[in-house]
Amino acid sequence: MSETAKPPLLVKIASPRGFCAGVDRAIEIVELSLHKYGAPVYVRHEIVHNKFVVDSLKAKGAVFVEELDEVPDGVPVVFSAHGVPKAVPHKAAERGLNYLDATCPLVSKVHRQAERQVEAGRHIIFVGHKGHPEVVGTFGQVEPGHMTLVETVEDVGKLAFEDETKLSFLTQTTLSVDDTAEIIAALKARFPAIVGPKAEDICYATSNRQAAVKVMADDCDLVLVIGAPNSSNSLRLVEVAEREGTRAKLIQRAVEIELRWFEGVKTLGLTAGASAPEILVREVVDMLGRHFDVTEERVKTVDERITFKLPRALASEADAA
Ligand code: F3S
Repeated sequence: MSETAKPPLLVKIASPRGFCAGVDRAIEIVELSLHKYGAPVYVRHEIVHNKFVVDSLKAKGAVFVEELDEVPDGVPVVFSAHGVPKAVPHKAAERGLNYLDATCPLVSKVHRQAERQVEAGRHIIFVGHKGHPEVVGTFGQVEPGHMTLVETVEDVGKLAFEDETKLSFLTQTTLSVDDTAEIIAALKARFPAIVGPKAEDICYATSNRQAAVKVMADDCDLVLVIGAPNSSNSLRLVEVAEREGTRAKLIQRAVEIELRWFEGVKTLGLTAGASAPEILVREVVDMLGRHFDVTEERVKTVDERITFKLPRALASEADAA
């Protein structure tokens, strides 16, 4: 295709998109650990759900494992942003491992709420996705039997408890804002005495990214979401666009884009999940620029200025870096 023959394409880029404060902090924890202790630094589970990020850290000397048993004695180990069951740091302490916890502070907040609800004698109904590491981590904050998982409004209909006056609910941080509102409404209708957090547990980054896609999708013929297939918040962005009636595709890298998707597409929406770095957004825009006459436009819905403190063990390392 010659330069002049390129068809025009308006690319609307959502803002906010991509890295959230929890992901930024988790990656910094691994990088600063490598700086302070030298390679290898072990990381339990993908630090964040993004292959590009994981591969970049591997290249710097991080070693990713799924379980603590795979971490040799005497090396530092970092726990991922999704959080871990309490048994994991306990086991690490027993073995005398130097561990650093990169659990997002907003996930830790849900962990503390879970403990408090159980202390108050309440059974917790947890809204989340079965098998997601954040759900596994949050369930692991309390003794087995104190929490029940629901994923859908239909699940709420199947619940039965001996004492319906002692219930509370909590949610995963990376859910669909709209679906979760429906599930919570169903919980409150079925169990009028149920108590929940004052503000929902869905984090600011998840809700801001979904809100931006909602605003943008209506004007777009296609939405591309950069993110991993195991990234909950990225999958939710695809669903948000589809609910607005716009076709949407999840991609990890520009190379996955198929030009046949663009038939009849004049306006493309582009966003990235909370674990996808900005470099991948640029990669996609550059790739599109090779096939289309691209005009970029920002769709800004809110300013994000949130940052989280580093663990004390690394704070001085950050100042020195
Ligand atoms: Fe934390 Fe939300 Fe990001 S829970 S890791 S700020 S997606």
